[in-house]
Amino acid sequence: MSISIGRKQQVEGLHGSAAGRDKFLAFLADEASEKIVKQCVSEMALPYSSVVRGDVTKAIQQLSAGRSPIALMVDISGVELPVSQIHHLAEVCEPGVTVIVIGDRNDVGLYRDLINAGISDYIVKPLTQTLAQTAIDNLFGVSKPAARTALSQKQGQVVSVIGARGGVGASTVAANLAWHLANKENRRVALVDLDMYYGTCALMLDVPAGGGLREALENPHRVDELFLERSMLRSGDKLHVLASEERLEIKLTPDPESLTPLLAILRKQFHYVVVDAPRAHREMMHAAALQSNTAIIVLDQTANSIRDTLRLRQFTETADLSAHRTVLVLNRVGEAGKDGIDQKNLSDTLGTGVQVQIPFHPKSAIDAANAGTPVSSFRSPISTAIATLADELGGRRIKTTKPWWKFT
Ligand SMILES: Nc1ncnc2c1ncn2[C@@H]1O[C@H](COP(=O)(O)OP(=O)(O)OP(=O)(O)O)[C@@H](O)[C@H]1O
Ligand SMILES: [Mg+2]
Repeated sequence: MSISIGRKQQVEGLHGSAAGRDKFLAFLADEASEKIVKQCVSEMALPYSSVVRGDVTKAIQQLSAGRSPIALMVDISGVELPVSQIHHLAEVCEPGVTVIVIGDRNDVGLYRDLINAGISDYIVKPLTQTLAQTAIDNLFGVSKPAARTALSQKQGQVVSVIGARGGVGASTVAANLAWHLANKENRRVALVDLDMYYGTCALMLDVPAGGGLREALENPHRVDELFLERSMLRSGDKLHVLASEERLEIKLTPDPESLTPLLAILRKQFHYVVVDAPRAHREMMHAAALQSNTAIIVLDQTANSIRDTLRLRQFTETADLSAHRTVLVLNRVGEAGKDGIDQKNLSDTLGTGVQVQIPFHPKSAIDAANAGTPVSSFRSPISTAIATLADELGGRRIKTTKPWWKFT
């Protein structure tokens, strides 16, 4: 069978929309299926290396360490608890992957569970050339529109970090959280530092701030995946930073609406988009909070900070944030000693407790700054607290899904 023009063009057309990602990857457990899918990929002008011997567990292993393809085929034959393995796969996959599962069990219950887990199709072995080719064609939308399933529509989480007052440690939380998610939880993370004059987050990660953010916010129509690929700075394999360090004499007037297309593109490519949203630019902060899945408010044990946390609450309450989660992070715990507002008073005034506490530990902060490395990259009370915060985001430790301002 020779490749049809339509099929080849469709497959090539995917390239521009997926900078840096393979178009197709298959993990097949037996030689016969591997041979058939290799035949299909050669007809699509894709490399043989797109077909790997292995099953879903190998796919999980490989995709945890590298980029995800646009379309994925995985074998679950002989795998214990295949549905939970598919859920695990969904966790490690980047947003926007379409998945076809191959297996040896002809079981309607299994099929339904797999579809509910977000896959596009389930094919029972023995695989034939026609079955495999039709499935792959469907993935690429050659013969009919590609199945748009929960998994392929999966979007990254946007998390904005807002300081209740200046210097409370919002950028420290944003940069370290992003670093932790990328380096300890193996997620692809974009860190956007909206504080365009200072590029503090970039500094904490020891990458040059560049100028990509200003350009992205001033010319939103130019923002696409390739633009971001060029403008974002890398801190290791998984963390990409979008920041600026503009001259102080320049007056910047970024349009808050420009944040929408930027975040829309980023959340298609990254598991997490962490936004340092300084309160100095009210509109930008508001726009970031509105588009976030989680807003983190960082406060400390001072009266000013608690007062402004309450005011921020009023501010965010003006919009419908019911689909969003707000996490309160109390930073610099213990800094003011006996003069700091104690936890009981703090919770009474706020009407709720805080979810995460970060101890005041100047030695870690200074060591990190001197070494040009984030605090989270070494053991310290601050990095332990950041790990707890990362768990909160993953929903593992969150005690309530009720927005904190709804507490009475
Ligand atoms: N838990 C902590 N213990 C000790 N020092 C800390 C802690 N958290 C932050 N710091 C230090 O406090 C300083 C201010 O932190 P950071 O820049 O993160 O605050 P910010 O809220 O982003 O400030 P700004 O309002 O200027 O944006 C930094 O020097 C940082 O290292
Ligand atoms: Mg800051």
